[in-house]
Amino acid sequence: MCGIVGYTGKKQAAPILLDGLRRLEYRGYDSAGLAVRAGNSLTEVVKATGKLYHLADKTDQGRSLPGTCGIGHTRWATHGDPSLINAHPHVSGNCSGSGKVESDVVGVHNGIIENYGELKEKLLRHGYQFYSDTDTEVVVKLVDYYYKKYRIGPVDAITRTMVRVRGSYALALMFKDYPEEIFAARKDSPLIIGTAENAVYLASDVPAILKYTRSVYYIGNLQVARLSPGCAKFFDLNGDEVALPVTEITWDAEAAEKGGYEHFMLKEIHEQPAAVRDTLNSLIKEGRIDLTAAGITDEIIRSLSQIVITACGSAWHVGMAAQYVIEDMVEIPVRVELASEFRYRSMPLNENTLVIVISQSGETADSLAALRLAKERGAITLAVVNVVGSTIAREADHVLYTLAGPEIAVATTKAYSAQLAALDAFAVQMALVKGTVSREQYGHMIEELLGIPDKIGRVLEDKERLQWFSSKIANAHDIFFIGRGLDYAISLEGSLKMKEISYIHSEAYAAGELKHGTISLIEKNTLVIGVLTQSRMIEKTIANMAECKSRGAYLMGITTNGNFAVEDSVNFTVYIPKTDEHFVSSLAVVPLQLLGYYTSVNRGLDVDKPRNLAKSVTVE
Ligand code: AGP
Repeated sequence: MCGIVGYTGKKQAAPILLDGLRRLEYRGYDSAGLAVRAGNSLTEVVKATGKLYHLADKTDQGRSLPGTCGIGHTRWATHGDPSLINAHPHVSGNCSGSGKVESDVVGVHNGIIENYGELKEKLLRHGYQFYSDTDTEVVVKLVDYYYKKYRIGPVDAITRTMVRVRGSYALALMFKDYPEEIFAARKDSPLIIGTAENAVYLASDVPAILKYTRSVYYIGNLQVARLSPGCAKFFDLNGDEVALPVTEITWDAEAAEKGGYEHFMLKEIHEQPAAVRDTLNSLIKEGRIDLTAAGITDEIIRSLSQIVITACGSAWHVGMAAQYVIEDMVEIPVRVELASEFRYRSMPLNENTLVIVISQSGETADSLAALRLAKERGAITLAVVNVVGSTIAREADHVLYTLAGPEIAVATTKAYSAQLAALDAFAVQMALVKGTVSREQYGHMIEELLGIPDKIGRVLEDKERLQWFSSKIANAHDIFFIGRGLDYAISLEGSLKMKEISYIHSEAYAAGELKHGTISLIEKNTLVIGVLTQSRMIEKTIANMAECKSRGAYLMGITTNGNFAVEDSVNFTVYIPKTDEHFVSSLAVVPLQLLGYYTSVNRGLDVDKPRNLAKSVTVE
């Protein structure tokens, strides 16, 4: 959601900024802009609506903008429509569009300033004029106001602003009096700093700068950064300098490239065996599951009387699947709550409750808010996160990292699978410690888990059939995904994969629930996809599918090898390899991901960057 980049060094800034913005496209945006400056000259601002290539065309791929210091932004509209006037950068002076600006402060912002209305009124009273509908223009002008009123330096002007604003932000600012420098600040929105010889990079996410450096600083919440070529200094809210550790990024740069695939999503679907294998290998050592890296000891597990899982979107679907697995294996109450609803529930949480927050990005605002509330209420918190150093990872009591590598496509695939594997391993370990499985069962389950990556590979080998089938359904109006128990959890993910990238309306239903209303929507040729992997529920779900068929539905079934009776009941069957039924979601989800992917391709849509969506949702 909004992407920020910055560069100060010895090279021309604009092409580097454009390259960085391109790598942040997955975050979602509807307009973009750059502010670049050469030495003491005036800052030049260029903006464009729509896709990034409009901005690149306007600036001859950045070549027409001289200067070695600059900031860039892709905007995902929150306050004000996606227009040129609302596009960032915004300036402190009287200017709204592109061109050379006299202004003292120029800035870009990601997040939401909740009290921007009252701040705007204050600034209007002090003679400021506003040109856009954005909260960002208000922040930039507020910084300018403090900068001039107290004749203090940029860091102090920014910290005063931070004390005054409410909401979330990552800010990058340039000051006319400080050529070659960029100032940045953050609260609850991601922002990282990369350093190299004679250069400093700034970005909302690692892939934007991976090509240039692997040495990264994670600016803390309510901290300010002062950046000049080759030098990054950090300050707290009092303006005192703070030392931050530098983190070396271990992802290889190619991990954030398409590597010959047509889309990131397809590449990431194919990276699932590796993502799951790496995640499991980090947890399973010498035939035992070892959660000590996450700080989860046997003593903590023994103390638990309930588990609450909270997350958003696909990560919530992982929670739904984990709920069935943990309850079945560990016999402990598990509750799954949407992170955006977490605060509206009066849940009894205490020191015997483990709240698990699942998040690929580690920056999802709703999940972060749920984590903070859970901590406040005294629960033990565990984050299952993919992005190292992200806010959720830093704030949780314990962190279990998934090793999926950078995920660029908005529709998650490999991070989902890695999360699922991590939670399955967690469930198995809990079951051993709580004494609900024997050593022998434990050993067998670990073997089954370790077999999952190869089996995902086998599912991928069957992708041509799904490609063919998706061409048949590309014009569908409605698709229903149904299943019972764990199969229902997989249906939820299958339905989201379909609708978010193909824009075909789809619903996931617990199979037994259809007849309580939804079945009235079934008409001739409505596609109903049944997930049929849980042996004790297959017959019942098939019966529900038959009810749909007799009302004209066209049926597809996903089932495990050997369940050949399914073929007699449905029109199109997809088989997945057999495994312990607790872990089957990792296999059943793959055909559903492929179906969503190929349907989107067949409809000629932007698979990796579906409309209106952002990869990391940093507003509530
Ligand atoms: C799924 O394909 C989506 N991109 C979305 O539902 C996502 O899972 C959700 O926004 C949560 O994101 P997170 O894992 O980064 O917290």
